[in-house]
Amino acid sequence: MNNTIQKMTEHVSVRDFQDTPLTSEQKMTLLQAAQSGATSHFVQAYSILEITDPAIRAEIGRISKCAAYVEKNGALYVFIADFYRQATLLEKAGKEPKGIRNPEALTVAIVDATIAAQNMVVAAESMDLGICYIGALRNDINRVAELLDLPPFTYPLFAMCVGIPASKNDKKPRLPLKNLYAENTYDKAAFTDMADFDQTMLSYYESRNSNQKSSTWSEQMVSYLQNEIRPDVADFLKKQGFVFE
Ligand SMILES: Cc1cc2nc3c(=O)[nH]c(=O)nc-3n(C[C@H](O)[C@H](O)[C@H](O)COP(=O)(O)O)c2cc1C
Repeated sequence: MNNTIQKMTEHVSVRDFQDTPLTSEQKMTLLQAAQSGATSHFVQAYSILEITDPAIRAEIGRISKCAAYVEKNGALYVFIADFYRQATLLEKAGKEPKGIRNPEALTVAIVDATIAAQNMVVAAESMDLGICYIGALRNDINRVAELLDLPPFTYPLFAMCVGIPASKNDKKPRLPLKNLYAENTYDKAAFTDMADFDQTMLSYYESRNSNQKSSTWSEQMVSYLQNEIRPDVADFLKKQGFVFE
C-alpha cells in the first residue's frame, strides 16, 4: 500500500480543529488538487466559495447545527454544482439552455463538484490536515443561496471544513466488501445481508472514544430514512431553473 492509499484508509471526519488559518500556499495547493479532477464532457460544472466572512460562517454554523467546527477551523469552503457559467454562454448565443436544466445535467454538476471536493479531501489529508463535509447546510438551502448570492443553475451541495485537527474520533468501520462489491450482476442477497455489519457497528458504537451508544447500522438507517429529508431541496432546484418532468 503506498502513502496515498494509506492516508485514504486512515480517513476520519474531524469535528474539532485548531484555530489556525491555513496558509495561502496550503489553500492554493488544495484548490489545485480540487481542480485537477476529471470532469464530464470538460464542463467543469462546479464552483468553490471560500467563506471568510464571520457573519456568513456563523449563519452556516447555525443552519447546519455544526457551529463548533464550521466556525473554528483552518478554512471553510462551499462546493456548488454550477451550470450558471454555461447558462450565460447560452444566453449570449441566444440559445435555449436545454442541455443544462434536466436531471442528467444536474447529475453531471453534482458529480463534478463532488469529484473536486473529494480531490481536495485526499490532498488535505495527505498534508495531515483534517476535513469535515457539511451537507447540513441544505437544512435551509434557500437561506444559504441568499447568503452566498447564488444565481440560477447553482446548487450549494455541502460545505467543507479543513484544518489542523485538535482531536480525532476513532476511525469508523465500513460495510464489508461482500455488501457492496460483486462481479457482473447485482447480488441482492449478499448486498442486503447486514448481520455482520450490524454486529461490527454495535461493538464500535459501544466502545468508541466519543458519543457512545447502543445501536446497529440497520436500526439507524430505518430511523433516519423513514421520513422525507429536506423536502424543500426539490422546490429550490426548480426555482434555480432545473426541470424534472
Ligand atoms: C456529503 C457529506 C455530507 C456530510 N455532512 C455532514 C454534516 O453536515 N455534519 C457532520 O458533522 N458530518 C457530515 N458528514 C460526515 C459524515 O457523517 C461521515 O463522513 C460519516 O459518518 C462517516 O464517518 P467518517 O467520515 O469519520 O469515516 C458528511 C459527509 C458527506 C460525505
